[in-house]
Amino acid sequence: MPPPFRSSRRAFLRNAGFALASLQLKPPAPPEEHQQTALDPSTLAPFVDPLPLPTVAAPAGRRPHPQNSGKTIPWYRVAIRERMVKIHRDLPPTRMWCFGDSFPGPTIETRSGQAMIVDWENQLPTHHFLPIDHTLDGAGSGVPEGRSVVHLHGGRTPADSDGYPEDWIVAGQKQTCFYPSGQDAALLFYHDHSMGINRLNIYAGMQGLFIVRDAREDDLKLPSGQYELPLVIADRLLTLDGQLLYPVSPDPERPWVPEVFGDAILTNGKLLPYHEVEPRKYRLRLMNGSNARFFRFELSNRAPFQVIANDQGLLAAPVSTRRLPMAPAERADIVLDFTPFAGSNVQLVSDSFPILQFRVAKSGMPDASQVPAVLDRSFTRLRESDAVRTRRLTLDERLDKVQQSMGMLLNDTPWSAPITEKPVIDTTEMWELVNLTEDAHPIHLHLVRFQILDRRPIEPFDYMKWGRLRYVGPAQTPEPLESGWKDTARADPGMVTRIIVPFQGYTGRYVWHCHILEHEDNEMMRPYEVVAVGSRA
Ligand code: C2O
Ligand code: CU
Ligand code: CU
Repeated sequence: MPPPFRSSRRAFLRNAGFALASLQLKPPAPPEEHQQTALDPSTLAPFVDPLPLPTVAAPAGRRPHPQNSGKTIPWYRVAIRERMVKIHRDLPPTRMWCFGDSFPGPTIETRSGQAMIVDWENQLPTHHFLPIDHTLDGAGSGVPEGRSVVHLHGGRTPADSDGYPEDWIVAGQKQTCFYPSGQDAALLFYHDHSMGINRLNIYAGMQGLFIVRDAREDDLKLPSGQYELPLVIADRLLTLDGQLLYPVSPDPERPWVPEVFGDAILTNGKLLPYHEVEPRKYRLRLMNGSNARFFRFELSNRAPFQVIANDQGLLAAPVSTRRLPMAPAERADIVLDFTPFAGSNVQLVSDSFPILQFRVAKSGMPDASQVPAVLDRSFTRLRESDAVRTRRLTLDERLDKVQQSMGMLLNDTPWSAPITEKPVIDTTEMWELVNLTEDAHPIHLHLVRFQILDRRPIEPFDYMKWGRLRYVGPAQTPEPLESGWKDTARADPGMVTRIIVPFQGYTGRYVWHCHILEHEDNEMMRPYEVVAVGSRA
């Protein structure tokens, strides 16, 4: 029996930007109480708060290098705690769970190959302020609610520092991580990864940026310093008194909802902020920090801009576009030239949502920055023949007939089943992500970087019935603006998305999952293991 598809109404509403209406899947209409208690952000004065820029973390000292005695490396301490955060001038402070004192947390900066130690110190309260679903794996009622385990997304990190979802800690404990950062310059981010409540902890604020820089990037003379703007953009739902509202299902025993879309779009933790810029080039480092929302960024005047980097660093060459789609957890760097807009205002928007207003001054300092025609000389596209092995992995959606609830799975296998994917270190594999659902899922692999080879439409029912791929159209190469190194890639509905993955760095147990956090928390996550040469794969 093929699993029933859900209606495409939700996807339609999401694209149309009707966030509130799409809160609930079944019944299709949102419960009345959400509409009554949710704040409509369009009733607030827009662009009254300046854009905050996250502080850059300072090391607390130095510690011995764990693998190289006699050498010391920077040591950071980051507290995880409840804070009241001002997200808009006219709203009372919002209760959040933060890294440090802010959402997003302090930005950690390093250079390629410069290792560090970070102590993530849990100081969270005993009880969660968002609705835990105790029926989810790892979130049983006996499990401490104020738990945390931090993962550096996009980091090439040894397995024991990667933040395995079950390795959480509680208040009074610390998680010590060793980040070698042996990787190219890129915008990474850290976030909570606690089994079964990851979506709630991140929604509550547990996210921050991590920037790796290198000499190659410095040489390009891209806009830098005050002309480089890191932007974490994330949607939330707010109550009338400005508190985070996390929607629940109609079943109090199983409050999990399949996705959350909010109409309050926060940029670096502010709702509808403004930023004063000079008429010159800026580098915007964008990160989609939403639980489930896909953005399609544009300028309000529809002017083109240049995309220069993906999740894992610089593209081979800049790509000019007017619109940039970004799935949850994806990052992209763009260069915006404000020169033509001197003396006027321009907004960053996504569909119908205003996000951030730029107030462009009439004049400014001379602009010596540039966007070279070639960004990454060493970039080569991987070919199908580089893969020593192909794995076909399905993305599935099942309706549990007894519970009448929706479940999402990777390869039809729950989290708790034994590990089935065991790539050999220093080999390259092709993963065919066969999306049998009606949603796009941003699929993320820990540890590695990869390239999207292509996407090709199939007839999903054929696959579900006969286990056979029937293609119904030609393969589509990725768009130029997603042609670089990735760690998260959109697997579109009814398509096979092929990613080509060199497994490099470390052996050990990691995870891969959908980065729609509601899916991830409800079984759309699997462990995988990078094994040594000669192990049974
Ligand atoms: Cu952003 Cu498993 O991570
Ligand atoms: Cu990750
Ligand atoms: Cu998903």
